[in-house]
This record gives sequence, C-alpha cells and structure tokens, in this order.
Amino acid sequence: MIKLIKPYISFEEVQDEFKEIFESGWFTKGKFVEEFRNEIKSYTGAKHAYLTTSATTALTMALKALDIKAGDEVIVSDFSFPATANVVEDLGAIPIFADVSLDTFNMLFEQLESKITTKTKAVIFVDALGSPDGINEIKKICQKHNLPLIEDGACAIGSSEFGIRCGNIADITCFSFHPRKLLTTGEGGAVTFNDDKFVDFFDIKLNHGAVVNDGKFDFVDYGYNYRVPELQCVMGIKQLQKLDNIVSSRNIIRDQFIKALEALGFKAQKISKDIVYNVQSLVFKVPTDVNRDELVSYLRDHDIETTIGTYCLSGTTYYKNKYNDVQPNAKYLQDNTITFPCYDGVDIEYIVNKLKLYK
Ligand SMILES: Cc1ncc(COP(=O)(O)O)c(C=O)c1O
Repeated sequence: MIKLIKPYISFEEVQDEFKEIFESGWFTKGKFVEEFRNEIKSYTGAKHAYLTTSATTALTMALKALDIKAGDEVIVSDFSFPATANVVEDLGAIPIFADVSLDTFNMLFEQLESKITTKTKAVIFVDALGSPDGINEIKKICQKHNLPLIEDGACAIGSSEFGIRCGNIADITCFSFHPRKLLTTGEGGAVTFNDDKFVDFFDIKLNHGAVVNDGKFDFVDYGYNYRVPELQCVMGIKQLQKLDNIVSSRNIIRDQFIKALEALGFKAQKISKDIVYNVQSLVFKVPTDVNRDELVSYLRDHDIETTIGTYCLSGTTYYKNKYNDVQPNAKYLQDNTITFPCYDGVDIEYIVNKLKLYK
C-alpha cells in the first residue's frame, strides 16, 4: 500500500534523549519543553510561544485570551477541519462561515468584509492545507475594522507569505503537531504571538491558574493543564531542525505531481509566488467528469491511499442543522478535491499510470 503519510521521525533520532529522560525520571516541564518552545520562537520569528496538547486546545486558549464570550460572532474560513468552528461553538460564541477561493482555498476578502457586524469580535483565518495565501491582505482588513486575527496554522508550520513565517503574521497563531502534520509530536500544538499583553494570560492559565511567588504557588485564577511531555518535545525539536529541508523536498515532489496530473485534467491548489508552501497536503481538484469518491475507492483498490481535501464546515451535519448557511465554494471543494501521498520515495509513476487507466 502506498500510504498517505510518512512521518519524518525515526526512533534512532530520538533514542539518546529518550534514554536520558528515562534515566533522569524527569518527564514533564523540563529542558526539552523549554528547548522546543524556544526553537518554535526562533523558527517562526514570533516573540512568544507556548506549547499545548493540540491545535484545538491552542485555538480555545487563543479565543479565551481575546475574551470571546457567548453571543460573540467569530468569522471563520469555511474550508477546514471542524475544530476551527468547534472551538468557537464550545464557548457559546457564533461561528460565521466565510466562503473561500476556488483557487487558493483560503478565505475570500470580500466574504470577510461582507460578514463583519457589530457583534464580530475576532476572525479565524485558516491556512488551507498549509498555505497562508492571502493572510496579509486579511490582516489589513482586520486592522481596518479593529478585529483581532487568529491564524489557524494547524497545517502551516514551515510556510510563509512575503517572507514572514506563519506564527509571526496574525495576532495569535495556533499550530498542530498531530501525526497528519509535517511535524508531529504524536499529539501536540503551539500558540505563538508577538504582543506582550497576552503573556500573563498564557503563563497563568496554562499553569492551573497559578503564579509562583517565592517558590510557592498562588492560585490567582482557574486554569488548565495542556502540557506536552518531555519525550514528545524531543520529537518536535528533531523535526524542526530539518523542517526547511523537508519543505524543499516536498515542493520538488509537488512539482512532479503537478506536471503529470494537470495533463490529466487535475488542478492543483493555487500557491501564489509570494508563498513558501510547506505542502502539508498535496491537494488537487479532480477533473469535472470524475467522481472523487469513486476515484478514491479505485485508487485504494490499487493500493494507493488518498483522501478528501478537507471539509466544508458549514455543510457538516451539526453546523448545517444549526445555522443552515452552507457556503458553495467550500462545499464544492469538499466534494471535488483529493489529497495524494507526498514524501520522498513515493512512487509517482505508479500513481500516475493508475490515474491514466481510470475511466
Ligand atoms: C485546519 C485545522 N485546524 C485545527 C485542527 C485540529 O488540530 P488538532 O488535532 O491538533 O487539535 C486541524 C487538524 O487536522 C486542522 O487541520
């Protein structure tokens, strides 16, 4: 089977540090956590970074840091994984779905402008499949309306627009280190930002609501435990060190796929020239006469694992039943995109030959 995903981490790479951790018995809140945090800061260029258990917890904390409350409206990109809207819904706030471009798959500027109301309190821009295409323009609109911008960069570690890395563009960025992502810690996430005003919030809330005075805990607030263990941070550090090489090699593979698949009528996600794209997911629109689900089954029958691009949030059963506001472009992309395997050694020729034989 040609698998969709191949992690960029091996046991050999981490075994020395794992041994050290087991021998010391120091499994959490140690030097590898601090190192991974610092490496995320220096890699992204952001002034502050905090680790979390997932992008979902990172996004929840970002919304809380912005004091998003029940009844507030938060505009979200509609082509994403449901977590993007779920975190809004979970706070009793209202996700307002902004449709996306059929080319870049990212939030449309005019959609954002047209959906801002007096109740809008924040915007969540999703780097669709890892591409931040258009985020700086979205940021300008947010600034014009005095709205904080959260970047759901769950897929976007290693990407940039205009030379500025994801993590250093929006007011707050949230990353995922789930195994589907380029950089994985098994499960995990991070929040980055530049504004010092959020530091106390994250310091206290991610430490059970405590501040430390003279070595003693003073629980000045209620808080959470979203910590990432030492072992997982070792995995993160190792992958971050080689991330740029991973991104370059994925782009070479992406170019080979584009050359072969566009000749067969597939259309790649558009990545503008100012983007460095990490190729988190290699996604194409299928030719208009092809049924995507049938194609995925056909490829599975030939030992090639593929999947859909991602979801139209407003079209999922829960959000459709509750808000009945399905966005047409996101729905089209959900139904007509396919993700191909993309990593060193993937047998492109075999995949392309099978596609050529598909009727
Ligand atoms: C765009 C987006 N946001 C959020 C998430 C949730 O990430 P996590 O599994 O780390 O909570 C995902 C996961 O696939 C995602 O793709």
